[in-house]
Amino acid sequence: MMENKVNRENPSQMAEGIAMQRFGESNKPEDERICYDPYAIHFIRPEIIEFGMKHPEEAKAKIEQTERQFLGLSSSIMARVRYFDDFLKKYIDEGLEQLVILGAGYDTRAYRIEKLKKSINVFEMDHPNTQSFKIDKIKEIFGSTPENVIYVPVDFEIENLGQKLFDNEYNSSKKTLFIMEGLIMYIPPRAVAETLSFIVENSCKGSAVIFDYYPKSVVDGTCKLKIGENIRNHLIQLGEPLQFGINEDEIEDFLTQFGFSNIKNVTSESYKKLYFPGKNENRDFCELLNFVHAVNE
Ligand SMILES: C[S@@+](CC[C@H](N)C(=O)[O-])C[C@H]1O[C@@H](n2cnc3c(N)ncnc32)[C@H](O)[C@@H]1O
Repeated sequence: MMENKVNRENPSQMAEGIAMQRFGESNKPEDERICYDPYAIHFIRPEIIEFGMKHPEEAKAKIEQTERQFLGLSSSIMARVRYFDDFLKKYIDEGLEQLVILGAGYDTRAYRIEKLKKSINVFEMDHPNTQSFKIDKIKEIFGSTPENVIYVPVDFEIENLGQKLFDNEYNSSKKTLFIMEGLIMYIPPRAVAETLSFIVENSCKGSAVIFDYYPKSVVDGTCKLKIGENIRNHLIQLGEPLQFGINEDEIEDFLTQFGFSNIKNVTSESYKKLYFPGKNENRDFCELLNFVHAVNE
């Protein structure tokens, strides 16, 4: 039995893994890629990039092996990036005033989405050991950190999210979007509940939250699909074990209980339809990863 121990002493390997996938997707032809992130490469350790350049065949074999082990997960994660980008852009057009990215990792939206750069404060929240590495990289790329980005180091397991935000000039009367991309599965149920309660109680009407989730069976190890078992075991090995799961048929009631409305669950089937036509038709995707968004009305 593998030990379910959290280890956050080093920058998050999962954040790096996702940056690596965005890098791979961004290198595809424009009419094929699902999302585009020109900065993703900077968050990948140089030795990994170097290995890929020196040993392209071995690197390709490694990528193919990972794809077999987690069949379709990479495409689902790329669809997640794109869906969250599209959702954010729509919100900006509808008058977004503030963006909070929880578990930001190497999220580059603040640096690549033009409309965000103008007058929208972006709060990036992450564990200090991942965030300090990111800040160094941002300074390397741009010379300094952008004025509208506020870095808020936090450990969601032991610290109060609200206190941290208010200490950093979060304004609860501004229309806000809360992005939790690849986060809620890594934090305990208590922290998930505290975060959702905070959003409902401390954001103005029209503010929203968007996140993705796995079903309970992936988290507790009862998933019958091999990929579910592989995801769970891999994350335990990395020291970033899954801690929170919720089933698709429970998500609406769950969010309603906190006071959210206008809840939209985005199943793997629906994002497959959105992003996998034409040239992407034959790409596998992972049916275990769903997205959801909801409004504080
Ligand atoms: C899977 S990565 C996702 C990163 C980014 N949102 C993305 O999609 O590329 C999970 C992120 O959540 C952060 N995280 C996980 N548990 C955390 C905790 N207890 N406190 C603060 N950050 C945490 C990790 O440091 C990491 O950056």
